[in-house]
Amino acid sequence: MSSIRQIFLVLFVFRLLRNSFYFLRGHGVLGSLSIFYNALYKRLYHMFLSLPGIRSKVDKQIASATKELEDKLTGFGPDTNRYRKLPKEPWTPEQLKTELTQLSNLKRTRWEEGKVSGAVYHGGDELLNIQAEAMKLFSVSNPIHADVFPAVRKMEAEIVAMVLSMFNAPDHAAGATTSGGTESILMACLSARNKAKAERRVSYPEMIIPSTAHAAFHKAGQYFGITVHLVHCAAPDYTVPINKVRRLINPNTILLVGSAPNYPHGNVDDIPALSRLAIQHKLPLHVDCCLGSFLMPCLAKAGFPSPYAESGGFDFALPGVTSISVDTHKYGFAPKGNSCILYRNKSLRQYQYFISPDWSGGVYGSPSIAGSRAGALIAGAWASMMAVGEKGYIDATHKIVSTRITVQNAIKEHPVLKETLSVMGDPMVSVIAFESKDKPIDIYDIADAMSAKGWHLNSVQDPPGLHVAVTMPMTRDGAVDNLIEDLVAVVRTEKERVVEQMTGGTGAGLERKRGRQAQLYGVAGSLPDKSVVERMVVAYLDTLYLA
Ligand SMILES: *Cc1c(COP(=O)(O)O)cnc(C)c1O
Ligand SMILES: *[C@@H]1O[C@H](CO)[C@@H](O)[C@H](O)[C@H]1NC(C)=O
Repeated sequence: MSSIRQIFLVLFVFRLLRNSFYFLRGHGVLGSLSIFYNALYKRLYHMFLSLPGIRSKVDKQIASATKELEDKLTGFGPDTNRYRKLPKEPWTPEQLKTELTQLSNLKRTRWEEGKVSGAVYHGGDELLNIQAEAMKLFSVSNPIHADVFPAVRKMEAEIVAMVLSMFNAPDHAAGATTSGGTESILMACLSARNKAKAERRVSYPEMIIPSTAHAAFHKAGQYFGITVHLVHCAAPDYTVPINKVRRLINPNTILLVGSAPNYPHGNVDDIPALSRLAIQHKLPLHVDCCLGSFLMPCLAKAGFPSPYAESGGFDFALPGVTSISVDTHKYGFAPKGNSCILYRNKSLRQYQYFISPDWSGGVYGSPSIAGSRAGALIAGAWASMMAVGEKGYIDATHKIVSTRITVQNAIKEHPVLKETLSVMGDPMVSVIAFESKDKPIDIYDIADAMSAKGWHLNSVQDPPGLHVAVTMPMTRDGAVDNLIEDLVAVVRTEKERVVEQMTGGTGAGLERKRGRQAQLYGVAGSLPDKSVVERMVVAYLDTLYLA
């Protein structure tokens, strides 16, 4: 008996030592100490926030922020009808039409004027009509019944083939459509996890991702029990430092990740270097091209530099790249609810399949998360791709990237902007992010002032920045000039306010109420313990379901 116990003890100690060794090697001695210090600080701060007096104060502030949020998201005024039960009698088509028209006119951000970053990637009337027609024709179809709806199966397979052909896929490459970028990324992580489990018996999977990689990788980590190692991406280039990725690789590693480009700053990680690392360690490498989507393959044809063109590019042309996620619903201009996950070969794709051979409802298999799926969305995506065509995508790339360059040049050259703001890294596609290099000016105050002028830009954090994703509506005449003009005005005002504050002026600015972004990111975000931010997010998500 006791010898069995001893064996377990030795195994336990051995695992502990081995894991500590990988941890120390991965993060370095100083890095490990700083991780422990931060964890401790966070814990203590959390305890501080739970002290009776403090806790009630925090609760009160969260309650007031929640109320503000509810008013903002659901306050349509007293004459808005609210429906919480089925109508007893069916509505007439006229009644429906009137109500739907009213709904579509509810107060909202005017994305048509190009004042929204990301969100609406095309929105042209002609394309919208084409999509609506295609979706109407296939509104009852469901690809889970391939025999009943052969056309939808054909269109889905063709979408995958067309997207593969844009990313230098080898002969035996494969792919699948999904409901969006998040699902594509979930599938890539699941495939890598299942592959490592089947081929290398890895039971405690880990993946290494840049700190700038999309939140969907964290979701995959949580959903599939994969430990996520973050590699911090810092100034000046904000791409993932390859030597730090290398140090974190250990026998439990199942996947390396790079973005082309990433969401926060629009920079492209050094995919050729990641590819070499992946081959050296026989690991899968996922390239997140969700955002880059159809822009990335069109850059060179539209006359712009293409990332790492001399060292192999960013796609399957690099031998280490095993999967790529591509959002057809971003710069593929398909209706929302469309994306593709591409694999170097079929066996990688098979690792994402779900198969239940002995289900009482019959032998069951499905390629991705959903069971039934919307054939209409596949028809909408297929029709969009055919209607825009290669030429259309190259033209769009030209417009979008030129607009991003216009914003970038303004930040680098305009006398007011260049003193205060700096571009984060070297953006090459549609997204540009900038930070405040003039310390007293808080970039989140600039974000709030831009919101007040009707702009819908995105705050990024760690480090603080403001991000603009250029889409087709923003390439319309005058839109980007308005953006720059408003940005200049906002920065000028902020500067004056800060100067006044520092010289002890009596300006009302001193007691100004901080805006939403400044509160969320600047105030709550600077606390070491994120539980306050988490509670705000829960309140937001709950508000979404207030009928
Ligand atoms: C948008 C985006 C995703 C995921 O997209 P969803 O379609 O919103 O799920 C993934 N990666 C990057 C870089 C993105 O910008
Ligand atoms: C598919 O690609 C993976 C990753 O490169 C590799 O490990 C595997 O052997 C390939 N399978 C086939 C059948 O080619």
